[in-house]
Amino acid sequence: MSNFPKNFLWGGATAADQYEGAYDADGKTLSASDILPLSGNGRKWALDHPLEAAKKDYGFHPARKGVDGYHHWEEDLNLLAGMGFNVYRMSVSWPRVFPEYGMNKPNEEGLKFYDKVIKKARELGMDIIMTIDHFDTPFWATEQFNGWTDRRMINEYIKLAKTLFTRYRNEVKYWITFNEINALLNYPLFAGGIDISKCENPLQARYQAAHNQLVASAKVVKLGHEINPDFMIGSMIAGIVNYPNSPYPQDALEAQETTRKSYFFPDVQARGYYPLYAKRFFKDNNIHLQIEDGDLEALKQGTVDFVSFSYYSSSDVSTDSRIKAKKTAGNFSSANSHNDGGTVTWDAANTVINPYLESSSWGWAIDPIGLRYLLNDIYDRYQKPVMVVENGLGEHDTLTQDGKVHDTYRIKYMSEHIKQMGLAIHDGVDCLGYTMWGPIDIIANSTGEMSKRYGFIYVDRNNEGEGTNTRIKKDSYEWYKKVIASNGKDV
Ligand code: BG6
Repeated sequence: MSNFPKNFLWGGATAADQYEGAYDADGKTLSASDILPLSGNGRKWALDHPLEAAKKDYGFHPARKGVDGYHHWEEDLNLLAGMGFNVYRMSVSWPRVFPEYGMNKPNEEGLKFYDKVIKKARELGMDIIMTIDHFDTPFWATEQFNGWTDRRMINEYIKLAKTLFTRYRNEVKYWITFNEINALLNYPLFAGGIDISKCENPLQARYQAAHNQLVASAKVVKLGHEINPDFMIGSMIAGIVNYPNSPYPQDALEAQETTRKSYFFPDVQARGYYPLYAKRFFKDNNIHLQIEDGDLEALKQGTVDFVSFSYYSSSDVSTDSRIKAKKTAGNFSSANSHNDGGTVTWDAANTVINPYLESSSWGWAIDPIGLRYLLNDIYDRYQKPVMVVENGLGEHDTLTQDGKVHDTYRIKYMSEHIKQMGLAIHDGVDCLGYTMWGPIDIIANSTGEMSKRYGFIYVDRNNEGEGTNTRIKKDSYEWYKKVIASNGKDV
């Protein structure tokens, strides 16, 4: 018997800046990711110095080409529907819709692209989960007022959300306000359009940006419900499980503290107020938020309908300096794995290798049970429906002589995670759906590489952006089709 409810949402997720390409088509201007080079060419430096990086001639910028989804969307949607997807999580490119700061009207040409995609997806039987901002802050915001550190972003964001809510009020039911909002702490350019090198007090800047986003998120939740009371509007974080490395109480405390850095965001979005530990954290770190009249009320009035997260890996937290010495690139947090070579861990200097887990080729620990743990933890904390909106394995794939990709490793990874999700549902978690990450190969967010592939569908394209863009079904394609057809029974 399947543990999954009848109307469970099965699908996949992509982000505009990793998929679409066509960075200057039909009036679009640059987004933060468009200025970044491929890893190995100073991408990490550029993430922290985007204003200077924008002046450099890198020759190739992976996000500017993506996988040319702007011209392959129809073929791609047909392929996704071929697996039986009943949901597709996508995002809009903010600078495609509002190419300049302060525009009163959106760019119709840009919106027409999303009109077509949404219409076609629905004809093919897919609901849409729309991420309003998936790491896609327009670069004009970085240039003009350092992104979300400035409150002017709140109105710009509301304008974007209102445009989408109104235009797609009958087409889109599920909305996510910000992708991995907790990534603001480690990934200020992607998550907030912030040039962190220009901030006098980087920690203060990050939390001010967080406050501005939380207020913006709450305001659009309220607005969305006014536009269509049936909208389901959710929060989303990079979901990290932090295990204490030992029974040493200090490790447990450190693991809790680390987890709170992520839960801080949905704590506000789901409960409508700042948690006590945040107030203590602000005080201890001399952070003084600019909170304006009406902000706290807005937070209260705009609580989310569901809480969603990405899940790739878990972390192991230790305060023992001898163990810390063993720290390598082995642990992962999706939201900050932007180092050129290896990966660093979620905000916690104290993360070490978990000896019980294997890792992917990019050093991300593989931990299916962590997904069950996290689903239970989040559902218990908020008592609101949850959704797994990203999960998957980024690996090298080889196209064989016969034109196939035998990605048994991906099938294994996903099968084990889906089983654990089923067990969490059996535990009592109200999980609405699962959109695995990157059903069609797209460029990696952290490194800009094409060789880090997640898809069921291979795209003929290399790290330098060369290739035919031909789409080829991998072995995992037929496997996922069976999973969906059996509603998670045949995994
Ligand atoms: C999440 C992001 O952090 O992880 C995605 O929401 C990203 O945009 C995904 O692609 C996987 O990370 P990467 O670096 O392997 O693409």
